[in-house]
Amino acid sequence: MNYKRVLVTGGCGFIGSHFIKYLLKKYKNISVVNVDILNYAANPENVREAARDKRYRFYKADISDYGTMAAIMKKHRI
Ligand SMILES: NC(=O)c1ccc[n+]([C@@H]2O[C@H](COP(=O)([O-])OP(=O)(O)OC[C@H]3O[C@@H](n4cnc5c(N)ncnc54)[C@H](O)[C@@H]3O)[C@@H](O)[C@H]2O)c1
Repeated sequence: MNYKRVLVTGGCGFIGSHFIKYLLKKYKNISVVNVDILNYAANPENVREAARDKRYRFYKADISDYGTMAAIMKKHRI
């Protein structure tokens, strides 16, 4: 598998945080960008371990914000 950059939205929630842990553990040749608005359902503790991984980046943003999402995707070449 070639190197991949993966965008996960809602990654501080229940499903997203487990998905991020799974991706980082299973695939060494990926990086993960997590975009989460951090609403009531988010728990940053869920990704505390991932945050120590150099392959992980977090952005607090709303995925309905087109400009911000486009900038994040361009910056990380997702
Ligand atoms: N312990 C448990 O078993 C447990 C705990 C929580 C949830 N659940 C279940 O998991 C399912 C839901 O999980 P989920 O991960 O889909 O939802 P979630 O509600 O757990 O997380 C959603 C995440 O998306 C983020 N988000 C919401 N709107 C956003 C936006 N516009 N832009 C960016 N980020 C945004 C939130 O901040 C949150 O971190 C449900 O079935 C629920 O019952 C189970």
